Amino acid sequence: GQLDKVAKEAGLLYFGTAVDNPSLNNQNYLRIARDPAEFGSLTPANGQKWSNTQASQGRFTYGSGDAIANIARQTGQQLRCHTLVWYNQLPGWDTVSSVYNRDQMQQIITAHIQNVAGHYKGRCYAWDVVNEAMEDDGRYRNNPMYRAMGVDYITHSFKVAQQTDPAAKLYYNDFNIERCCNAKINATIAMIRTVKAAGAPVHGIGMQGHSRVGMSPSKREMKETMARFSELVDEVAFTEVDIRHTKLPIGAAEREQQGKDYMEVVGACLETPKCVGITVWDFTDQYSWIPQQYPGEGEACLWDRNYNKKPAYHSIVGLL
Ligand code: XIL
Repeated sequence: GQLDKVAKEAGLLYFGTAVDNPSLNNQNYLRIARDPAEFGSLTPANGQKWSNTQASQGRFTYGSGDAIANIARQTGQQLRCHTLVWYNQLPGWDTVSSVYNRDQMQQIITAHIQNVAGHYKGRCYAWDVVNEAMEDDGRYRNNPMYRAMGVDYITHSFKVAQQTDPAAKLYYNDFNIERCCNAKINATIAMIRTVKAAGAPVHGIGMQGHSRVGMSPSKREMKETMARFSELVDEVAFTEVDIRHTKLPIGAAEREQQGKDYMEVVGACLETPKCVGITVWDFTDQYSWIPQQYPGEGEACLWDRNYNKKPAYHSIVGLL
């Protein structure tokens, strides 16, 4: 079987992948990315981010995001949309929070979400409405939105997203919230309770799932976290999974370990009733973001750079 095919047979809604624009002129890449049996869901890796959709204030551009959304439309793949409010990849005009007071920031967020979520209205199975709002130590990330509005920026973002695209599942998404039970997980739970109490419609929690071979969280730990999240929201998902080797080159043992680590993630989702699906943060080492972000590390994906499937791919298909 192939990934999405076996995932659906196992009861998940989808097995998906992130897709970035530079890979769209590569036919080897596209043959796999566009195959609905392999990937039932696509996520623009960068195309829907603020820097790509509103690089200059009030001027909205959708070419990068549309290129991927249109593939999904042609193939019938679902779209997981990413992301509306994030401290990173912001255009210059919005990065200096001191120039914005609460009202101004609220207007900026409203306009951004109304435009971007409005443009994709009805096409996103889910939106990552707010991304990475918490620090590992449990504090709120001191980003421009937080400085202007406090936690209200999160509540407000979810409310506007709901008004703009009522059909989309609205997610809070973050990293380092997979392994039970650290300060960030506790703080995330408290934050979700706070914003829901203030009227924010939070339907899902996304666990990014970036981790390292041999050091990635166990199925047991992840299931524990997901059970806690499941008390708060309708669904949970792994949204950006990649499991990188920290030392290269690697041998057969490391490849096998990577397969085991991926299986822990997939197993945790399978054994969690509210886990709807798994998205990998691109599927081939050729386009993985890891070597740029973590120099010297990599080979984190299910296919190598020559489009050979790795043991991890076969492990997942075998497990599902
Ligand atoms: C990454 C992209 O993959 C890179 O191409 C880009 O340079 C930086 O962002 N968490 C997220 C994603 O939520 O949006 C990030 O994507 C990876 C970490």
